[in-house]
Amino acid sequence: MVVAHRLPVDDSVAPDGACEWRRSPGGLVSALHPILRQSPATWVGWAGQTGPARHVPDLDGVHMHSVPLSTEDIAEHYEGFANATLWPLYHDAVEQPVYHRRWWEAYQRINQRYAEAAADLAEPGATVWVQDYHLQLVPGILRELRPDLTIGFFMHVPFPPPELFMQLPRRAELLRGMLGADLIGFQRAQAAHNFAQLAVKVLGLQASDRRIAIGDRIVRVGAFPVSIDTADMASLAASRGVVDRARQLRADLGEPKHVILSVDRMDYTKGIEQRLKAYSELLDSGQVKVRDTVMVQVAVPSRERVEQYKALRERVEREVGRINGEYGRVGEPAIHYLNQPFDRAELAALYRVADIMAVTPLRDGMNLVAKEYVASRVDDTGALVLSEFAGAAAEFTQAYLCNPHDLDGLKAVLMHATRAAPDDVEERMRAMRAHLRAHDIRAWARAYLTALDRTGVLATRLTQA
Ligand code: ADP
Ligand code: G6P
Repeated sequence: MVVAHRLPVDDSVAPDGACEWRRSPGGLVSALHPILRQSPATWVGWAGQTGPARHVPDLDGVHMHSVPLSTEDIAEHYEGFANATLWPLYHDAVEQPVYHRRWWEAYQRINQRYAEAAADLAEPGATVWVQDYHLQLVPGILRELRPDLTIGFFMHVPFPPPELFMQLPRRAELLRGMLGADLIGFQRAQAAHNFAQLAVKVLGLQASDRRIAIGDRIVRVGAFPVSIDTADMASLAASRGVVDRARQLRADLGEPKHVILSVDRMDYTKGIEQRLKAYSELLDSGQVKVRDTVMVQVAVPSRERVEQYKALRERVEREVGRINGEYGRVGEPAIHYLNQPFDRAELAALYRVADIMAVTPLRDGMNLVAKEYVASRVDDTGALVLSEFAGAAAEFTQAYLCNPHDLDGLKAVLMHATRAAPDDVEERMRAMRAHLRAHDIRAWARAYLTALDRTGVLATRLTQA
């Protein structure tokens, strides 16, 4: 059983007015959906609409159980404690975390609701895998309710150093909640280290970076960098429809020499503003010419009712307008800005068009967009400009790495990638693709589930499906 804040589908309105189910955006769903497909699993999560629980049809053999959330629940738990307190704090506090006592009450209430749903549905002795920062109390509550279960927890986002985490008014409860799990997985070894240090400092427990003793239990901790379905992305990118669509897109862009692409949720952690500033300065100095180079910025709407996200969107759109006004020409904008969701085939076509992919978050747990780009470059072309602060940088050491806070450095790396010799680009891409083939989403699930379930039966069943 997977327990995550969201189900992997959202309902949306089809062009004919009917209700249709659409895959929800974000890295967590992209990672987990492919491995659960075709297995007799249950996914407990929210169906994307407020009000009573909706019936959600099974998806690819996975049973969907929807948890009801009211408008108030969403405002205080999802938009409040999860995305205005924890999200900024866990991403280096690049925006100021907001603390409200009312939000903490909602966080407890909603975590209790998810835990009870899981406790009611789980078979005796089942394995329950709880996901991400929205549900950090669920492992602890679930252990109380159902001591027979094997409980895993995986944090998809960064886990901050003690200096930051210590700000949290309810820090001890959050740590204790996670420690209800048998195995706590993080994206990077540094995060596991931060967690272990906090277990000692805040809870006075005995801990190493791999094992924490609490009561009569040992909780294991480790790094399991998440990934994508590499083969699936590669075959989509190589398909006739995507290749034709990529050719069309290039023609629509005016057959430029260089296409620079970025694909992000509209989120302040993604470094969109810093990237636009760098690009604008390159245009200003004449190092980049609109006729030769186009930039495509896809920024899918995200968390639109949260104040910091509204403000970000306004700033980004103002800046895109300014840059296009100043440097564009009739029929030749400097930046093509797309604030829309796309299906996977369209994203794959965009990845194929991009000579340079700029993935420059200020902080990111992993960044699956970087992995999707690499997987889709089936002819070993394409330069990945990657922030050192994305989890993916620990694996893609051959990327053109940059520090997105350093504007001159970012500009230099963008120019380096644009002017790089084809041999250099190809050698780097080949190495990254080889890494990604060996470390795909199945390898991730196998590693985590083997560690969680010592018998190995579950890992074998799920990753062969
Ligand atoms: P995060 O988890 O912060 O959202 P990731 O890069 O790890 O960031 O994952 C983002 C996921 O959302 C990727 O699988 C990507 O393909 C998907 N995505 C990004 N932009 C869009 C878009 N415009 N339409 C649909 N899916 C998108
Ligand atoms: C990140 C988080 C996920 C979340 C996703 C999309 O990947 O780790 O838990 O689902 O972003 O964000 P949203 O707020 O739309 O669920």
